[in-house]
Amino acid sequence: MTTTAWSGPVVTLNDGHTIPQLGFGTADVSTSDIVTAVSMALEIGYRHIDTAQMYQNERGVGQAIAASDIPRDELFITSKLSNRYHEPDDARRAFDQTLTDLGLDRIDLFLIHWPLPTLYGGDFVSTWKTLTEFVGDGRARSVGVSNFQPAHLTRIIEQTGVIPAVNQIEVHPFFTNEAARTAAHEHNVVVEAWSPIAQGKVNAEKELSAIGGNYGKSPAQVTLRWHIERGDVVFPKSMKADRMRENLEIFDFSLTPDEVAAISSLNQGEAGRLGPNPDVMAWIPR
Ligand SMILES: NC(=O)c1ccc[n+]([C@@H]2O[C@H](COP(=O)([O-])OP(=O)(O)OC[C@H]3O[C@@H](n4cnc5c(N)ncnc54)[C@H](OP(=O)(O)O)[C@@H]3O)[C@@H](O)[C@H]2O)c1
Repeated sequence: MTTTAWSGPVVTLNDGHTIPQLGFGTADVSTSDIVTAVSMALEIGYRHIDTAQMYQNERGVGQAIAASDIPRDELFITSKLSNRYHEPDDARRAFDQTLTDLGLDRIDLFLIHWPLPTLYGGDFVSTWKTLTEFVGDGRARSVGVSNFQPAHLTRIIEQTGVIPAVNQIEVHPFFTNEAARTAAHEHNVVVEAWSPIAQGKVNAEKELSAIGGNYGKSPAQVTLRWHIERGDVVFPKSMKADRMRENLEIFDFSLTPDEVAAISSLNQGEAGRLGPNPDVMAWIPR
């Protein structure tokens, strides 16, 4: 297997580390498919993989990493704490298990997956403090949060003085989530945009097809390029090699400011949200 290093853009986090701006998402990739999918993504050129304890596929991600010849320092691996393990001791045990399952002695980025403000007495601050221990002991290079609303972000920063490296939130043309993006930028927190192509729904959007027609690009490629030009980190998921390649081929064209604005104007606000609202999300896996 060719082991070329990532040659695409990187973003610098507030702790000085860098992250490839485009990666590969693994939500809903089953145990039986994960090794093949991640191996294919690595072969095609992805070097940043986004997984989570709740995806139940970290072990397969680890197997694909181990089977590749890619030097560890050329890979960027993210995982996230399960909603089940917010209590500090549980979080510590769950983090140990993540490293074991991934077969790594250090992860590049570890996130609180959801703030769960209505559970655990609303105390996501203790959970955040626990994640910062993993940076202290060298087993996480960076730590951050996911699905944190502006008030959640402000609260952990004010109460701990530690600023997350990223906030991974739902962002796509139909739900631009500007309040959460703005709050992140105010604190120098990098935004990671999940469901960046709206789970494939961008393909049916005429405006995106029209813009793509100017460059010979698909709606998915135009959308991913829009994210990149806005500075967000993305990791589209696909099980198909041709789409994995397509989603990587976005660095040979650029959008005009008018096109960026036209894509942003597809925003439908809350009506465009595909996932749960973090203010009320309270699901815990069995
Ligand atoms: N932090 C969080 O709470 C959270 C929540 C959701 C997601 N995420 C992360 O973000 C990643 C991406 O989000 P996502 O998986 O929800 O959605 P997504 O990447 O926006 O879209 C994935 C869907 O689009 C299809 N697709 C992929 N490339 C395509 C292309 N070029 N043209 C047309 N369709 C295409 C895929 O189908 P095929 O597989 O058939 O190609 C799949 O159904 C996840 O995998 C996960 O790592 C995080």
